[in-house]
Amino acid sequence: MIITIANQKGGVGKTTTCINLSAAFAFLGYKTLLIDMDPQTNATLSYIDPEKIKYSTFDFLQSNEYELQDIIHKTNIINLSIIPSSISLAKLESKLIGEIDSHFRLKDKLDSIKYNYDFIIIDTPPTLGLITINSFVAATHLIIPIQASYFALEGTDDLLETFDRIRIRSNPDLALLGVLITLYDKRTIMARDSKKHIEKIFENKVFKTKISKSVRLEESPAYKESIFTFAPTSSGAFEYKNLSEEILKNV
Ligand SMILES: Nc1ncnc2c1ncn2[C@@H]1O[C@H](COP(=O)(O)OP(=O)(O)OP(=O)(O)O)[C@@H](O)[C@H]1O
Ligand SMILES: [Mg+2]
Repeated sequence: MIITIANQKGGVGKTTTCINLSAAFAFLGYKTLLIDMDPQTNATLSYIDPEKIKYSTFDFLQSNEYELQDIIHKTNIINLSIIPSSISLAKLESKLIGEIDSHFRLKDKLDSIKYNYDFIIIDTPPTLGLITINSFVAATHLIIPIQASYFALEGTDDLLETFDRIRIRSNPDLALLGVLITLYDKRTIMARDSKKHIEKIFENKVFKTKISKSVRLEESPAYKESIFTFAPTSSGAFEYKNLSEEILKNV
């Protein structure tokens, strides 16, 4: 199962979800690969030291001159590996424009390694450019994190239009796994209203699990840990574990 986590709106919890959902699957014993497709490198920095990175997703997509073991890094979590990103990924889009396989680079690269993993999870940047398109074409499933806030649904029309276009043109197998309500603070009326609104629009596609606002989730990447070792009894650990189980139950 290849899950891309996307929303071109910034700061909605894409990376936090990638980091912790991939760790949840790995702790359950599933072989998991996290692919960081965001030049901001936040998911990468949550797991590995930048000095250890020789090749990144940029090289993975752009050349053949590397050994897989130089690209796929082990993390300190057993069963979890990562293909790190680097700032150079920012120039990938301009390099891909005009190439006939520009939408298919990630898919083609994953074809030879995907059977080594139970789960591949892709973190995407806050844009709907070629990098995100590559992740849609390569994936079997999409998770859309949406922050429970006033402008929550701004931009989702464009996102869903892209999803539909990819399904028609390049990847008919891509399915919407679910919409994940994130940064949820149930004490505020605004968050509760926003949650209701999201549920009205996306109906049964909204995950039952919601991710609450939690300082622990915000802190854990700075310590290069997932929430499960950083704060195992926190709401974030409980909720991301529940999310992994909800996904496993539904596929
Ligand atoms: N449930 C949460 N509770 C508290 N803080 C959170 C939560 N989820 C994410 N954050 C924090 O909010 C900020 C944005 O989250 P994150 O980086 O996961 O979003 P993103 O969608 O990946 O952002 P970008 O679009 O820039 O890639 C980060 O500082 C993160 O630590
Ligand atoms: Mg991010």
